[in-house]
Amino acid sequence: MSSAATPPVNNSLAYLNGAWKPLTECTVPINTHALQYGTGVFEGIRGYWDGTRINLLLLDEHFRRLHANAAMTLMTSPSVEAMTAIARECVARNAPTQNVYLRPVVYKKGTTLGPVLVNVPDGFMCYLQPLGDYLDTSKGLSVCVSSWRRLADNAIPTRSKATGGYLNSALAKSEAVMNGYDEAIFLNDRNQVCEGSAENIFLVRDGLLHTPDRTADILEGITRRNIIQLAADLGVACQERAVARTELYHADEIFLTGTGCQVSWVKAVDQRPVRDGARGPLTTRIQQAYEDAVYGRNPRYAGWLTPV
Ligand SMILES: Cc1ncc(COP(=O)(O)O)c(C=O)c1O
Repeated sequence: MSSAATPPVNNSLAYLNGAWKPLTECTVPINTHALQYGTGVFEGIRGYWDGTRINLLLLDEHFRRLHANAAMTLMTSPSVEAMTAIARECVARNAPTQNVYLRPVVYKKGTTLGPVLVNVPDGFMCYLQPLGDYLDTSKGLSVCVSSWRRLADNAIPTRSKATGGYLNSALAKSEAVMNGYDEAIFLNDRNQVCEGSAENIFLVRDGLLHTPDRTADILEGITRRNIIQLAADLGVACQERAVARTELYHADEIFLTGTGCQVSWVKAVDQRPVRDGARGPLTTRIQQAYEDAVYGRNPRYAGWLTPV
């Protein structure tokens, strides 16, 4: 799934508060609230190059989530329609010919001193960059259960996709990489399996899919929802429920999902091989079905794509 050579990101045109400029000229003051306090909410949206055009994946879903998260965190975003138009324009202006990743951010652009959300002006930005695989989807991942606890819903809601909350992800991912693993799996404060640093997690046990439910302090992934649908269409049911840590060591197959990682399979957890370190049959089917959907090869999922 990797895309071709990557041009410099700085060449792209980006949107910042009403103006289009080269990305390197899109600067903010050093006392910007979002920079000081992590007060932003964001999305990551993929665009797949099919040889003639870019197909933006699940565009409306991403902007509806961003709009809702901005409201939850007391920020005012442009309308879903306005953000959608900016994303499309971002692709049209840059005319990429390879897979891209769009990053829209609603953020506190004011310079008020103090961690407060009210009466601080909001801004909006959108830029894109080339992106092949975020995690290697062909080789199995070696993951570890993190010593870092997942943010609780009543602390910084993971559901909000808040910029500041990603320090939690960065600590877990860094620990994992420093210890020789590819990715970290969080437990939440109830010691249940939660998600990866930037991915949702699925287990296969006894021919069924299992994934932590929406109250498990996860980001309600858009890919997660679509994988549940794809699996149902393949005749495989998914149970959304609390997952215990040790189920990871008993699982027949494990894979991670997300806009960035797509469907990435796990070959070992805490150095315990999953399925003797081989990719499982259901994971393989789901990876293939997802790839067919995002590259527009299955008309059943044409509605997931917005061509630009
Ligand atoms: C913490 C976290 N969980 C899950 C996901 C997957 O979400 P989605 O499928 O909407 O990209 C992401 C995506 O970046 C994430 O950051």
